[in-house]
Amino acid sequence: MAYNLLSGKKGIIFGALNELSIAWKVAERAYEEGADFVLTNTPVALRFGTLNELAKKCNTEIIPADATDVAELEILIKKTMKKYGGKIDFILHSIGMSPNVRKGFAYDRLNYDYYQKTLDISALSFHKVLHVCRKLDAINDWGSVVALSYVAAQRTLYGYNDMADAKSLLESIARSFGYIYGRDKKIRVNTISQSPTMTTAGSGVKGIDRLIDFSDRMSPLGNATADDCADFCVTLFSDLTRKVTMQNLFHDGGFSSMGMSLKAMTQYDKSFRDYPEDGD
Ligand SMILES: NC(=O)c1ccc[n+]([C@@H]2O[C@H](COP(=O)([O-])OP(=O)(O)OC[C@H]3O[C@@H](n4cnc5c(N)ncnc54)[C@H](O)[C@@H]3O)[C@@H](O)[C@H]2O)c1
Repeated sequence: MAYNLLSGKKGIIFGALNELSIAWKVAERAYEEGADFVLTNTPVALRFGTLNELAKKCNTEIIPADATDVAELEILIKKTMKKYGGKIDFILHSIGMSPNVRKGFAYDRLNYDYYQKTLDISALSFHKVLHVCRKLDAINDWGSVVALSYVAAQRTLYGYNDMADAKSLLESIARSFGYIYGRDKKIRVNTISQSPTMTTAGSGVKGIDRLIDFSDRMSPLGNATADDCADFCVTLFSDLTRKVTMQNLFHDGGFSSMGMSLKAMTQYDKSFRDYPEDGD
């Protein structure tokens, strides 16, 4: 159901690669709610992904940019402002990649060049986007900027590797820039800490299927899907959340607040019946 929450609003959506992408779902939902936006991704992603389909569906265009490259971001923002004849109202940063995860370097054996790439792509790019927008005065007062994070920023989850560090940095950037942008322009900056979700980036995480299953069983409301995330993003881009800023907002069915559930305790008890010698 559409509520026209984003009618008249303009934005940029980073990170839709294919129809599994969280950004893809956000774009579809934002379009339904009346928003106009530009889609962007790296030139490589445009070759391998299916972004053209989404652009057609949302009646918009794609402006390629590598989000780690400030010069490319400047071109993207300038072209977007030209297209809309002025400033925009919202941005989604839905970007993440770790070469260490991809190439199987464990956290205690990281390749440091890759580590820097992880941080640059998954966290510093957020700073760069905000920095360029501020420099070009690209966002309207009371605009909204959202990036996607994960609970591994606060808690250790096996296999998430250097992406955990990147997410901690990402969330810190949201607070630091949120203060400056809020103070000067009333622009809000938040991160959404999303449940594990089966996407292209998600499927690179070691044991993702078990992680998804575990958090689904542990969360009282079950995992939040990419579609649920899109709904939440729309509320954050809308005027209904104008005083929410500098927050990391958990969108995970309650997972981040759980310690022990009835299901987990029952399962735990069973393991002692199977292996009684470990029971004490
Ligand atoms: N899938 C999950 O389990 C999960 C959970 C919590 C948070 N997130 C976060 O959600 C965001 C979106 O990921 P997703 O799961 O939809 O996967 P995805 O693979 O569909 O999206 C990741 C996107 O990042 C883009 N990207 C990579 N390098 C880039 C660069 N240099 N410049 C611009 N774009 C670049 C990719 O092309 C891709 O479109 C990421 O920040 C991810 O960490 C994902």
